[in-house]
Amino acid sequence: MPDSMVPPSPPAAPRGTWQTLKSLAPYLWPKGETGLRVRVVAALALLLAAKVANILVPMAYARAVDALTPHVGQGAATAGAIMAVPVALVVGYGLLRIASSAFGELRDAVFTKVQARAGRRIALQVFTHMHALSLRFHLDRQTGGLSRVIERGTRGINFVLDFMLFNIIPTIVEILLVAVILWRMFSFSFAAVTLGTIALYVAFTLVFTNWRLQFRRKMNETDQEANTRAIDSLLNYETVKYFGNERHEERRYDASLSRYEQSYIQSEVSLNWLNIGQAAIIAIGLTAVMLMAAQGVARGTMTVGDFVLVNTYLIQLYLPLNFLGFVYREMKQGLVDMEAMFTLMREAREVSDRPGAPALPPGRGEVRFEDVRFGYGRNREILHGVSFTVPPGRMLAIVGPTGAGKSTISRLMFRFYDVWDGRVMIDGADIRDVTQESVRAAIGVVPQDTVLFNDTIAYNIAYGRPGASQEEIEQAARLAQVHDFVMRLPEGYQTRVGERGLKLSGGEKQRVAIARTILKDPRILILDEATSALDTRTEQEIQSALRGVARGRTTLVIAHRLSTVVEADEIIVLADGRIAERGTHAQLVAAEGIYAGMWRRQAQAVALAEAAAATREDAAPVPSPG
Ligand SMILES: Nc1ncnc2c1ncn2[C@@H]1O[C@H](COP(=O)(O)OP(=O)(O)O)[C@@H](O)[C@H]1O
Ligand SMILES: [Mg+2]
Repeated sequence: MPDSMVPPSPPAAPRGTWQTLKSLAPYLWPKGETGLRVRVVAALALLLAAKVANILVPMAYARAVDALTPHVGQGAATAGAIMAVPVALVVGYGLLRIASSAFGELRDAVFTKVQARAGRRIALQVFTHMHALSLRFHLDRQTGGLSRVIERGTRGINFVLDFMLFNIIPTIVEILLVAVILWRMFSFSFAAVTLGTIALYVAFTLVFTNWRLQFRRKMNETDQEANTRAIDSLLNYETVKYFGNERHEERRYDASLSRYEQSYIQSEVSLNWLNIGQAAIIAIGLTAVMLMAAQGVARGTMTVGDFVLVNTYLIQLYLPLNFLGFVYREMKQGLVDMEAMFTLMREAREVSDRPGAPALPPGRGEVRFEDVRFGYGRNREILHGVSFTVPPGRMLAIVGPTGAGKSTISRLMFRFYDVWDGRVMIDGADIRDVTQESVRAAIGVVPQDTVLFNDTIAYNIAYGRPGASQEEIEQAARLAQVHDFVMRLPEGYQTRVGERGLKLSGGEKQRVAIARTILKDPRILILDEATSALDTRTEQEIQSALRGVARGRTTLVIAHRLSTVVEADEIIVLADGRIAERGTHAQLVAAEGIYAGMWRRQAQAVALAEAAAATREDAAPVPSPG
């Protein structure tokens, strides 16, 4: 039993920060990529090495200070001997400094490939996923909006990774290492005061930064407002002069400027306060630790070098914390952008293949709709039980007013959507039981408005079968009656068609579309109002091209102009999602129903148009008035 009444799945919901970070993990520890995993491990080792070197630097410094400090009872005479010792320490100090930065840079160099690959894989996955999502999803979204989400998301990932890996994690590692050293070398209270100070600092910065955000937001808003007013006023330069309203304009602009001024001051002053608060917290922590160290020196449990060491460690630790406010703000934005992109990735596929679904079996292209019911939204049924069969190689025409559901039938055949009830069969297989890929490979569509890729004519025709040779392309173009036109172009098949194919006329574009469908060589052809955007002359020219493609294929012609459906083996009149009449052209005209009425009206319209054209040609040029 098919799952009837498939409701549109609810959009995926965004998740918390931790979940977002976790979804990055598989890209940073990629499966089956031993080389990349080795790099991750090497980068971590280098990170640790850089931090250890970094921590040994103050040690060398402190021991050099100890060596230079005359101890009680030592005379000036021994000074020369003392001086000999710190040379090794000072040189060691220099080497350690070099090692610390070199390991840091090496870590970045080793890790860059992992990060770049993660970015590439995520971008590709999002792209693939976008193509896997339903037509419904894409119709509900603006493509521009989607690409912005992807662009920002990738940028966000890079940002978050950069800061996490090269700023936050190394800092945490360093803090922990220093805490352990302080504890082991001196006492637990040194470590506790240091960690406590940092905790206070971080908490203060985060809370304060969050509070400050409002000023920044207001600053951006008022800046925008002042800009808009200035531009609008200058664009209306003449109007301002007509009414002598320069003073009025100045006042309006200045009002905006003053709001900007105010929020700018608030933002800057609050930043000063943030800095003062941070400096105070650090200074208090530093003073406390140094007091403890001074006591140790006085008691003889610590050396002067130790006193210097403690001070250097803390200053070294607090340095990267200066950027915490900035890092926090940017990380927050980066995480939001990243999550927006991952939310897209978790958007469920509405139409998906059954697990292990086989390909469509070979056949000659029999199409069957069995009592198909379908609607786009849950509470509006568009097709109320439509049944028909098109035997292989025959032509079925579907006519009816706009909005009757004609294109819906072609979308269901292509399985852009699943039916609510009933079945769509191709060559005896329910299309839900076989892969979408094989169904779509079996069907060629020439739509009403063809959109071409912004590339050459040859590329656009070859799109029907990537890898087709130039001969095959030209062969298809000949069948579609577009070859002669292309040959007249100075650049022939290498002519670029412009964005969406705008450099070609409607008829030329349509023939390129027919050529690429010929190249695809599908067993079933759908012409969905393929010629209705064209004028009658061009339509007649294209008709024969279409007839050539349709020969020997099962064809569904959806048409508004009845002249195109006269030859169909069967004609269905669709009205309000129901089949109102069916039969051949002759039968339907004889039946004197809806179709016969449509046919008469169109015949009249054509006659009228021809008459009007004839009069226009006869008439003398219209004299211009006055
Ligand atoms: N993506 C969609 N979402 C909601 N309603 C749609 C969608 N596409 C078409 N419809 C509605 O379905 C009905 C049939 O549309 P369609 O099959 O395109 O008609 P036509 O016979 O003109 O080709 C119309 O009322 C249309 O408004
Ligand atoms: Mg339509």
